[in-house]
Amino acid sequence: MVRNFLLSLAGAALVAGCATGPKALNDGELAVPADYKSWPKFLSAVQRPDAKQVREIYMNPTAAAGSASTGFGNGTVFVMENYAAKANPDGSLATGADGKLVKAELLRVFVMGKNAGWGQGVAESLRNGNWVYASYLANGQKGPDDLSTCRACHLPLAAKDFVHRYDEHFAQKK
Ligand code: HEC
Repeated sequence: MVRNFLLSLAGAALVAGCATGPKALNDGELAVPADYKSWPKFLSAVQRPDAKQVREIYMNPTAAAGSASTGFGNGTVFVMENYAAKANPDGSLATGADGKLVKAELLRVFVMGKNAGWGQGVAESLRNGNWVYASYLANGQKGPDDLSTCRACHLPLAAKDFVHRYDEHFAQKK
């Protein structure tokens, strides 16, 4: 009797847990996953001489299971490290033996992730499906960036699941 009672209590707790579900995140609430450096690269050493930066983009296993035809599943997270590009004394950008820009200090860690019900706190006109955005400084503190600017610049990519360089990534994956 007692055992049955306890079991039904446990059942009720499970049902309550399911009904509530995981917390739906909004911009600024997605943390930098502690283990992201062990994830596969989405793209490596992205050259951005225009921004005087070099970027490393990591994707979690859910993102790695995405395809050009289906996009990325719920649970996808991307982490992008934005490094300053090393400058020569004359101010021009330095290049290494491989002709590529040289990474200097880490300026920002950008995170974007999608899941069911996420990102519903923003105005309809700036919704990027159920993606949310966050920005961090190299020391882990929140970055000062206005996160609506992230949305505005990723928004035109709706046909590519709001992910820039979607085609470049899937072309490399083949
Ligand atoms: C002016 C346009 C622009 C703005 C603003 C912008 N992004 Fe992006 N984002 C890009 C481009 C372009 C890429 C592809 C990599 C590259 O070329 O640097 C990218 C790539 C990313 C990626 C890697 C996954 C992907 O979609 O390719 C993340 C994560 C990301 N941005 C997050 C953010 C966050 C967070 C913000 C705001 C703090 C932000 N972005 C603001 C243009 C933008």
